[in-house]
Amino acid sequence: MSDARTVRVDLAGRGYDVVIGTNLIARLPQYAGKRLRKATVPVVADANAWAHHGETLKEALGRADKEVALFSVEPGEGSKSWRNLEALTDWMLNLGVERGDQVIAFGGGVVGDLTGFASAILKRGCGFIQVPTTLLAQVDSSVGGKTAINAKSGKNLIGAFHQPSLVLADTGALATLPRREMQAGFAEVIKYGILGDAAFFDWCSANASAVISHDPVALNQAVAKSVEAKTRIVAADERELSGRRALLNLGHTFGHALEAETGFSDTLLHGEAVALGMVLAARYSARRGELSDEDAERVAAGIAVAGLRAEISALELKSDGPRLVEHMRHDKKMDAGTLPFLLLRAIGEAYVAHDVILSDVADFLDQQLRSRVSA
Ligand SMILES: NC(=O)c1ccc[n+]([C@@H]2O[C@H](COP(=O)([O-])OP(=O)(O)OC[C@H]3O[C@@H](n4cnc5c(N)ncnc54)[C@H](O)[C@@H]3O)[C@@H](O)[C@H]2O)c1
Ligand SMILES: [Zn+2]
Repeated sequence: MSDARTVRVDLAGRGYDVVIGTNLIARLPQYAGKRLRKATVPVVADANAWAHHGETLKEALGRADKEVALFSVEPGEGSKSWRNLEALTDWMLNLGVERGDQVIAFGGGVVGDLTGFASAILKRGCGFIQVPTTLLAQVDSSVGGKTAINAKSGKNLIGAFHQPSLVLADTGALATLPRREMQAGFAEVIKYGILGDAAFFDWCSANASAVISHDPVALNQAVAKSVEAKTRIVAADERELSGRRALLNLGHTFGHALEAETGFSDTLLHGEAVALGMVLAARYSARRGELSDEDAERVAAGIAVAGLRAEISALELKSDGPRLVEHMRHDKKMDAGTLPFLLLRAIGEAYVAHDVILSDVADFLDQQLRSRVSA
């Protein structure tokens, strides 16, 4: 009995499989095969993910006559630090990890980004296998090869492109994920519909609650469709050179400003900020006359059915448009004084606008902060 689906990421010489389904952690040795060359397997694990699902992996490796060497990572963004990177790479070196070996990243985006970057630089690059255990990591961060830690001056500013050799997205592992994290991850799922696939947007709007409440068929479908969408974009533009990969940033410029304003705290999770950011991108597109008001409100409704906030007035920010725009000026996509914006011509058709005037955005945000007081 296997419901597993495989999506191939086609990259010359660096291609790999993303396997999506249930009970995959228990079958990791079969999927990894000869890639696990040694009796001791290095596993870098998020402490929560390990507490819930570590035993399953340990037993599976045990059945294959292997044992786990565990590097435990404290949950939270703070773990993507120079200090932790040093501790992790020292640990890998002491363990005797070689270029041809694989390190397993077991957790959400934090563990995936940290482990991926450590693997990118250890002896100029060793292998790594992603076992994403959050919805966000399964549909976004584990695929595509972006790895990073945070710098004092901002998130993800130190990093490298380094593709994993295998991704096992075990959707059964999401059963223990808090509902709020499921909802935040769902924002990145529906994003693929809004940016490039109107039919998938409709599917997401209709199936949001099934996905968030772990209906296995809906959840596998949501992850598989998302991975396929991301894979297509990454294969077309691995290093974000042609602009195609930039489409994945839909909702992120507005979202980032909201995250910055709320201090990158639990007040607003990344996915929650992206959800609001997509609504703002849609409404701003409507303000420019490029999208109908009706479609902009359909985007808002798709976000709201997932139980995500769709109105920035609901955040009760003590802020105004110019202040939010000030955060955008520090965006790493800022290029020679202009900021490219991901906007919509239709649901399913995002594009990069290079002619957005930030004072107009400030005006628009002021209006959004005031006009729609949440019920
Ligand atoms: N590399 C990329 O392309 C990319 C893309 C998007 C985001 N990211 C990065 O991903 C990170 C966010 O990832 P995330 O949302 O997965 O957050 P996360 O890794 O912080 O995990 C969220 C929470 O879920 C817990 N958790 C993980 N798996 C669990 C499970 N199965 N059951 C119960 N709890 C579990 C963790 O302990 C943590 O508290 C950010 O650092 C972001 O920069 C990277
Ligand atoms: Zn994101």
